[in-house]
Amino acid sequence: MCKYVIEGAHRLYGSAEIHGAKNSALPILAASIVCKGMNVIHNCPELSDIDATVNILRHLGCTVRRENDTVTVDSSVITQNGIPDDLMREMRSSVIFLGAILSRTGEVTLSTPGGCEIGLRPIDIHLDGIEKLGAEVLSEYGLVKCRTNGRLHGTKINLSFPSVGATENIMIAAATADGVTVITNAAREPEISDLADFLNRGGARIAGAGESTIVIEGVRELTGAEHTVIPDRIVAASYLAAAACTGGSVELSNVIPAHLEPVLNVFEESGCRVDVNGRKLVLNAPNRLKNVKMIRTMPYPGFPTDIQAPVASMLTLARGTSLIVETIFESRYKYIGELVRFGAKINVDGRMAVIEGVPSLHGASVVSPDLRGGMALIIAGLAAEGTTVVEDDGHIDRGYEFPERVLSKLNAKIKRTDQDD
Ligand code: EPZ
Repeated sequence: MCKYVIEGAHRLYGSAEIHGAKNSALPILAASIVCKGMNVIHNCPELSDIDATVNILRHLGCTVRRENDTVTVDSSVITQNGIPDDLMREMRSSVIFLGAILSRTGEVTLSTPGGCEIGLRPIDIHLDGIEKLGAEVLSEYGLVKCRTNGRLHGTKINLSFPSVGATENIMIAAATADGVTVITNAAREPEISDLADFLNRGGARIAGAGESTIVIEGVRELTGAEHTVIPDRIVAASYLAAAACTGGSVELSNVIPAHLEPVLNVFEESGCRVDVNGRKLVLNAPNRLKNVKMIRTMPYPGFPTDIQAPVASMLTLARGTSLIVETIFESRYKYIGELVRFGAKINVDGRMAVIEGVPSLHGASVVSPDLRGGMALIIAGLAAEGTTVVEDDGHIDRGYEFPERVLSKLNAKIKRTDQDD
């Protein structure tokens, strides 16, 4: 457990560098299992979810080293084909190992990832795709067992929903299948393209990643690859939201503005000026934001569900009423009960949140409910008058690298104390 103690109502200004994308590094680290040999992954963020993934790689027999933001994974020898429950529980998105272990060893056993704070997180689309590639899939007593007799075979797979994880698992498994796999209604997130780039560096033949149809021509074997992970667009947008609701002016470096396209329109509608210059992005906020009429979270290139909470937090202070519709996850509003403690006026009805902007928020003692909700509470604390304490049980460290250091550099008055301090 840790606490972030914030003295609010200080305008954020200055510059910050954005770290590598968690949701790109995780599948790439998992995919290093099929890229047999030495894999060198640069711009790998220092996050607890990355640590959990490294623990799994080591459990499977890989030698893993980290030097600053470079992680090397030697996957020459794999000695296990299962992920024990305790490691699965550390990070539910470990399901991303499924396709990699299956295609490398021909068999994989892992405990069903189960739900998390934001929803049930089923994996039916993953399993349906893996089955279509020719694997035998057994799912019982909380375990998922997949087995192949020889190589997987290429096929056509249409996803019922453009699931990010399912697209990744199928792409990884199909990379060494016998024949061509065509995935239609694939997820188009930038992290999918980044994973395909990594696999292609290992000898895969993947075309169309980033579009709805991805074509994977299976090859016999992949080799170790060197790759630099793309910047984290969710982290970048979170810090823009923090600057926006404090009337701030920040420059973010090491971003890919095109990845933020769906979000920049919302910042501009709220009255912010956003200037793009190569891999730098500058946001200048007005003294008070305007409301944003409607935000509907959608698969990329729509508005990202992961930015819903940070942006909702900034809109609590806007002039006018904003409407948010969360279409991706079924319980991604847990943070709102905590935002109300700051004096925010928000009503939630199912997937819809109606935010009536207020002129100011007052500091509060709150508890972080999940990763992005936790950042939303920090953002509210930065804008609120007075002192805020955000208690967090490790959620925020999963996705934000030392947020208190980044925000302090931007003139925020924020201190972090850890339980064992
Ligand atoms: C990835 O999760 C991200 N996580 C999530 O980020 C992100 O919110 C999500 O994509 C959507 O962009 C990682 O990349 C590690 P999905 P994933 O499969 O792959 C349903 C964060 O905060 N679904 O696209 O699990 C599912 O229930 C995290 O960094 C099925 O029904 O997302 C959800 O409603 C949170 N069956 C929707 O699809 C399946 O088999 C989107 O899920 C798979 C998914």
